[in-house]
Amino acid sequence: MTQTVALVTGAARGIGLATARLFHAEGRRVVMLDRDGAELGRVAKELEGALPMICDVSRPEEVDAAVRQIVVKCVRLDILVNNAGVADFGPIADTDFSRWRRVMETNLDGVFLMSQACLPLLSRQGGAIVNIASISGLRASTLRVAYGTSKAAVIHLTKQQAAELGEVGIRSNCVCPGPVNTKLALAVHSPEIRAAYHDAIPLNRYGSEQEIAEVIAFLASEKASYVTGQVIASDGGFDSTGVGLPALRPARTRQKP
Ligand SMILES: NC(=O)c1ccc[n+]([C@@H]2O[C@H](COP(=O)([O-])OP(=O)(O)OC[C@H]3O[C@@H](n4cnc5c(N)ncnc54)[C@H](O)[C@@H]3O)[C@@H](O)[C@H]2O)c1
Repeated sequence: MTQTVALVTGAARGIGLATARLFHAEGRRVVMLDRDGAELGRVAKELEGALPMICDVSRPEEVDAAVRQIVVKCVRLDILVNNAGVADFGPIADTDFSRWRRVMETNLDGVFLMSQACLPLLSRQGGAIVNIASISGLRASTLRVAYGTSKAAVIHLTKQQAAELGEVGIRSNCVCPGPVNTKLALAVHSPEIRAAYHDAIPLNRYGSEQEIAEVIAFLASEKASYVTGQVIASDGGFDSTGVGLPALRPARTRQKP
């Protein structure tokens, strides 16, 4: 049987690395793309046959060069996971245009650019795009004017892709992770934010990289062959609980201050 090829962006660590490992375990060839060349080189050695690719998804010329390499080295592409992302939490008044652009260029432009560049390859035999947004794209909050807006745009971009690309056999779906203990989250989640998250999440804990990767792998797989344009939160129930007041939780599940 021909080996399928999965490209994961932001694959040097965190959710992207867990997803690359899962695809590899499923027997797929994995292209691991990241702008952090040192870390990427180190972790790619773990996965036999994986192709590491240093690329900044926000730079059109780097994206085009990476996809040209995939054409040469892999010939085909079946799955694209747009996972690379950056977080920056700050009030609206302090978010100057360069901070705004720094978030948008990776989180939104990167998804647009990678998806567009991969279209010719994905449409050859049909394929799947999985975009990684966030619960911050589903529910607004303070301090996330750039991050939350970029992720809400990724949710809509997913629906645009599903609407237009279905006829060339490409499905596009979106995963919205809740909080996961990665480097990205550690940089922006203060101890107060961590405690408050516990109170607001019915499952009462952070998720793991593996738990997010499993949802991504399902949407990318044949098992989801009639699923497109969907947004799935893997968030311990955070998004479903409109009135998530800590005081309404049973005492035994409340986070100790
Ligand atoms: N960790 C969380 O709590 C959480 C919650 C919701 C959504 N997410 C989303 O999940 C995705 C993965 O996050 P993570 O927590 O694993 O983060 P992480 O910081 O651990 O990993 C992100 C990876 O993306 C790479 N990257 C960043 N910008 C890039 C660019 N322009 N080009 C190429 N590579 C780039 C980084 O080098 C890094 O290896 C992100 O899109 C993030 O917004 C994470």
